[in-house]
Amino acid sequence: MTTKGIKRGLTNYGDMAFAAYLRRSFAKSMGYSTELLNKPIVGIASSPSGFNSCHRNMPELVEAVKRGVLAAGALPIDFPTISLGEIFLSPTSLMFRNMMSMDVEEMIRAQPMDSVVMIGGCDKTVPAQLMGAASANIPAIQLVTGPMMTGRFEGERLGACTDCRRFWGSFRAGKISTEVIEDIESRLATTTGTCAVMGTASTMACISEALGMSLPGTAAIPAVHADRLRAAEASGTLAAKMALGEARALKPDEIMTNKSVENAMRVLLAIGGSTNAIIHLTAIAGRLNIPVGLKRLNELSDETPVLVNLKPTGDHYMEDFNAAGGLSAVLAQLKDSLHLDALTVTGETLGERLAAESKIFVDHTIIRPASDPIEPVGGLVSLSGTLAPNGAIFKRSAADKNLFEVEGRAVVFSSLEDLSLRIDDPDLDVTKDDILVLQNAGPKSKSGMPEAGYLPIPKKLAAQGVKDMVRISDARMSGTAYGTIILHVSPEASIGGPIGLVRNGDRIRVSVSKKQIDLLVSEEELHKRRTALETIKSDIPTRGYAHLYHHHVLQAEGGCDFDFLVGQAK
Ligand code: FES
Repeated sequence: MTTKGIKRGLTNYGDMAFAAYLRRSFAKSMGYSTELLNKPIVGIASSPSGFNSCHRNMPELVEAVKRGVLAAGALPIDFPTISLGEIFLSPTSLMFRNMMSMDVEEMIRAQPMDSVVMIGGCDKTVPAQLMGAASANIPAIQLVTGPMMTGRFEGERLGACTDCRRFWGSFRAGKISTEVIEDIESRLATTTGTCAVMGTASTMACISEALGMSLPGTAAIPAVHADRLRAAEASGTLAAKMALGEARALKPDEIMTNKSVENAMRVLLAIGGSTNAIIHLTAIAGRLNIPVGLKRLNELSDETPVLVNLKPTGDHYMEDFNAAGGLSAVLAQLKDSLHLDALTVTGETLGERLAAESKIFVDHTIIRPASDPIEPVGGLVSLSGTLAPNGAIFKRSAADKNLFEVEGRAVVFSSLEDLSLRIDDPDLDVTKDDILVLQNAGPKSKSGMPEAGYLPIPKKLAAQGVKDMVRISDARMSGTAYGTIILHVSPEASIGGPIGLVRNGDRIRVSVSKKQIDLLVSEEELHKRRTALETIKSDIPTRGYAHLYHHHVLQAEGGCDFDFLVGQAK
């Protein structure tokens, strides 16, 4: 029989009875009664940080989870893990997602808890928690901090961070003054919570619910809404019932299966979700040996319509999405193509959940019916070809359709430093029909695959009114960004991928209809360039986490997880 509660996983002093006695003694120093210490324990993995504005509501969420646990008759014990505040991390938060996932996994496994509620929100935290939970594999519920509310500027509604980019673009083009951009700075992110649009955080919240790991109807509840606290309380109650044996204690590997991962891919496509989410979903599924193939992504994308009219691709914000019916309404529209027998954390199947929700209100101006979609095909598609033999990702729902079938001249930037040095040079040899290429910004580069794929339009072209160009890189892009941007090119430049062999003036052909991306340079010439490259030594980190990261991070098609974390823990 598995030991439960405070006696779980005793510290080994060579005398287990002594270890239990000692643990109870130290637990009692925190004021717990013997009666409470005899109850099953619900761990609460919290991730507050003064460097994470998106988690500012963490303390009240922890309190709400605790009261749900206590009311149901179990003992709640919260513990911290690292927190990843997207905007506060250098060189990029993705680099630390795997570290947070290891923290979550090991602390769930090492500490005595019978089930766990994980609270995250900002972009990398929810994937890190789901990856950790998949590997630790005890009953787990994902709770998100929820999206922030919009602000106002001179009567206009603003939400981080699509509007941040829009105004910055206008500022760069000289259309708004320094005073105005400074004023807007205080009005873009005005409440706690995650970015107000369908960026990476909101996409991952929807994916968590689609996977079945969050309570139904909770993905889109705003951070400041009282329903968010009720969702926290309900998550605590369910986790307690799982620990007490009063609810089915499903483990993550019983919830996150081939079927639920495919459901999540469909949802990602239908909500016009973030490109980052395909990396995160691949990494989460990879922990359970579930493949997320780019070929399958394209098959699903060609038969899954975009239904949600939210920024960055549409008009509305997450608070509108919640009021319009939230993910429940999207799932109902996709019902015929979903695996309805997939289990959710409540113990119900997805089909049972949707049957129970058949009467919810839906605002079809924001969540369209499948019979009248915003786009007939999914938001994301994978491209491959001689420039990206292992694939690249393109968010077609955020791009200019006039740039879907193009051939152009490459204008190459060899690094982020080179980009920032030259992009606004008035002498830069560039026209609106050229293709901008950024190299050496992939997972193993020293920049760690930042969200730099949204290359700015060169200043001189922006001033002429150019708003979009084809931009290609081995980097990522923020989920709140938009444009004709091809990302995650694999293999990346710094391990010798063809993207690193592109030179100014080369011709590149992109065909979204054929899902092709090709560098029109002979193999002989590429071989010459490759041979010359081999003599260049890149700076490889020699110590610490950066060293571990560099040597073990997988390419984008592997979810940028560490090679030694993929697959189920024995
Ligand atoms: Fe945290 Fe956007 S910065 S979700």
